[in-house]
This record gives sequence, C-alpha cells and structure tokens, in this order.
Amino acid sequence: MWGGRFAEGPAAIMREINASIPFDQRLWRQDIAGSKAHVSMLAANGIVTAEDGAAIARGLDRIAGEYEADGVPVDLALEDIHMATESRLAELIGPAAGRLHTARSRNDQVATDFRLWVRDAIDAVDAGLKALQVALVTRAGEHVATVMPGFTHLQVAQPVTLGHHLLAYHEMIARDRSRFRDARARLNQCPLGSAALAGTGFPIDREATARALGFDGPTRNSLDSVSDRDFALDYLMAATQASLHLSRLAEEFIIWASQPYGFVSLPDAYSTGSSIMPQKRNPDAAELVRGHSGRIAGCMTALVMTMKGLPLAYSKDMQDDKPPVFEAHDLLALSIAAMTGMVETVTFVPAKLRAAAEAGFSTATDLADWLVRVADIPFREAHHITGAAVRLAERLGVALDKVPLEKLKEIDERIDGRVFGALSVDASVASRSSFGGTAPDQVRARVAEARAYLGMD
Ligand code: ARG
Repeated sequence: MWGGRFAEGPAAIMREINASIPFDQRLWRQDIAGSKAHVSMLAANGIVTAEDGAAIARGLDRIAGEYEADGVPVDLALEDIHMATESRLAELIGPAAGRLHTARSRNDQVATDFRLWVRDAIDAVDAGLKALQVALVTRAGEHVATVMPGFTHLQVAQPVTLGHHLLAYHEMIARDRSRFRDARARLNQCPLGSAALAGTGFPIDREATARALGFDGPTRNSLDSVSDRDFALDYLMAATQASLHLSRLAEEFIIWASQPYGFVSLPDAYSTGSSIMPQKRNPDAAELVRGHSGRIAGCMTALVMTMKGLPLAYSKDMQDDKPPVFEAHDLLALSIAAMTGMVETVTFVPAKLRAAAEAGFSTATDLADWLVRVADIPFREAHHITGAAVRLAERLGVALDKVPLEKLKEIDERIDGRVFGALSVDASVASRSSFGGTAPDQVRARVAEARAYLGMD
C-alpha cells in the first residue's frame, strides 16, 4: 500500500512488530461502516464518480458478509484491518478500490473506527450495569428489614439492614453508569476528514460523514483528531472505577461466604470444589472478579503510559491503544455478568446476619444516644458510661439488651427500664430514619425510587 518509495520489502521481524491485524480485526464492523460513510460522501460531492462509489459500497458489503461468515483473514503482510479490507476490495472490484482512500488517511480512519468501537462498548457495559442494578435492587427489596452488622475497620459498628447495604452498591453503579454516559457524550465527535494530520484539499463534507456514523458533529482540529485517545482513556478510567466497585462487592461475598461468617451461601453455579478437600466450595467467580479489577486497572495504566509525552500528531505507539481497551472490556463485561449472576442467586442467611449484629454490642451507640436523649447526659459522659456497660456485658457473656437492669443501674443510676426499648438491633435500625439512613422505611423508599429509575415497575 505504501511501497512506492521503498526499494526493499520489510524484514520479517518488521512485519511482525508492525502488524496490528491480529488484534485490530475486532474493528472490522466499524471500519466498514466508516468506509461506507466516507465513500458515499465522496460520491455525493463529486470526488469519486457515482459508479465507482456504488462499486466500492457493494464491495464493502460483500467483504462484510465474508468477515461475518469466515472471520477476518490474518495476513501480517497486510498490516492492519484497514489495509486488509482495502486489499480485499481491490481483489473484488479492481482499480476503483484505490479511490476509497481519497481524502482520507489511516490516521483519521483508525481514530474514527476506534471511537465507534468504544461507543458500542460503552453501550454494552451500560446495559450490563443496568442489569446488575436490577439484581441489586430486587434483592434489596427482599431484605429491607433484614438486620446485619454494619462494619467500620471490619469491626462490628452499628446494625444496618441488608437492603441498605445492597443499595450502597446500587449507588456506586449509578455513578459508574453516569461516568460512562459522560465519556460517551465527549467521545461522540467524528475525526473522519482530518486526514493524516492537516485536513485535506478535497471538498469533503465532514458534517455528512459525522451524521451518517451517528456522531453529533465533526471534531474541530485535525491535529487533535488524529492524536487524541482521551476517549479510550475515559473508557478505561470509567471501567477501572466500575471494576473497583465490583471487586469490593466480590470481596464482601468472599468474606461473607467463609465459614466463620456464614452470612451467605454462594450458589453452586458460581463456586468450584477442591480436588483434594471434598467439603470445599470455593467462591472462585467472586475471586476472579476481584482479580480482574487489578488487570483492568493495569490496562488503564498501560494506555496512560503509552500516551504520556507523545508529540503531535500520530505516532505508531498509538497502535498499542487497542489491546488494553479490548482486554479491559472483555474482563469488565465478564465481571459484570458474573456479579449479576451471583447477586441474583446468592442465598442470604438472615439468622446468621442477625446473630452477628447482636454479638458485637452493635447497639452501644444507641445506649449512649438514649442516655443523652432521655437522661440529658452530655454525649462524652454517656460514651464513657456505655463503655462500662459494654465491658460488663462482655464479662457476663450476654448482649447489651440482656444485661439485668440492676447491674446497669450500678454503673449509672439514671438508667431505667425504658432503655431496653432502644437496645435491640431492630429498634436500633428503626431509629436511624434520617434521609438515606438504614431504617427499613428509608430503605423501602429508596428501593421504590431505584425501581422507578430503572423502569422496573
Ligand atoms: N494500524 C494503525 C493503528 O492502529 C493504523 C494507523 C496507521 N497510520 C500510520 N501512519 N502508520 O494505529
């Protein structure tokens, strides 16, 4: 394709290091769509004849059929998906194929193809994340009043409801979706027509190609257009953040499924056994989601490092933009699907969750709050009195609301029988009814809002 200036062909190793067809074949649909939009614009503006334009479009359709049926043939000599398609076009329609590349460079071509690919990837991820939200909200609705320990420092802190805990992830995923939406809006400008770097002297219509490809309009600077990969970085950064959320939930499932916790039983369908220990059921899917998030962050870092310090405009380093995006996307799509399956099918064990909430003196704050509210004791003093009550309960080996009243009175005589109304885990969660709090009424309201936002009713 560019041999005119060269006396010799490339060394075998040059072919190998230069070729991107082994991975950029994934862009074939976008490449054909971009070429069709380009050639129809060329014909509409008299830059190629109507006959040549029609022959090129027909040839491209036929190539699409071949790729669909048999895959893209990988020939390193053809370097990349753009050259592979153009060379097949020449076989099919002859010299007219050579007119397709008028007023175009692979630099604006690949920038356009890759934007289109990332846009499709964002749409796929958004659908997956929405399905995960539906699963979370469904399970949260089943457990608006299921009491569990809330943790800080992984130490039992205060009782919360399981529905509240699950909705925390719903919020994270909502932010992820909005990050992907932002990325999509910024991405949706068309670089096609920027040519190699400086624009072109042909009377092209960039508005037309942008519209034909579903972009909001053409990009405004040809140098930036061919050297910008922000859209890929935006995707990777959004993917990294989404995968962090998935890995935190995965980690919780792993902890919760361990025998000392026993908060959940992960379904057989998302677990594996051990080849030596017959009793084992390992949370492999959750562990892989946790692991994949590290790899996704690695992909993000890889492209950051590639782009750092590149002078304008295109440099071949930028060909390395695609593998990390493809890899991250595959890992993320798989992680979202696996996590959705786990959320849908995990069995929660309410008795264990409740027992753990009761075991950790998780209502100590409620005792302190009661002393402030009912006995008008300053919070710092109430905190101190409550500490003594916890020490006593620990010594007696009972929950706070099972310590006999006389014993509590020995600590502070201002405590009376009404205190027991505040010390159960149910009373504790019911009392936390501030907006966004864990009280079942609040969680019920948030579930209803989430269901409406997701169009679940
Ligand atoms: N395969 C190349 C890439 O992915 C296409 C652009 C090639 N442009 C060039 N000037 N060599 O970046």
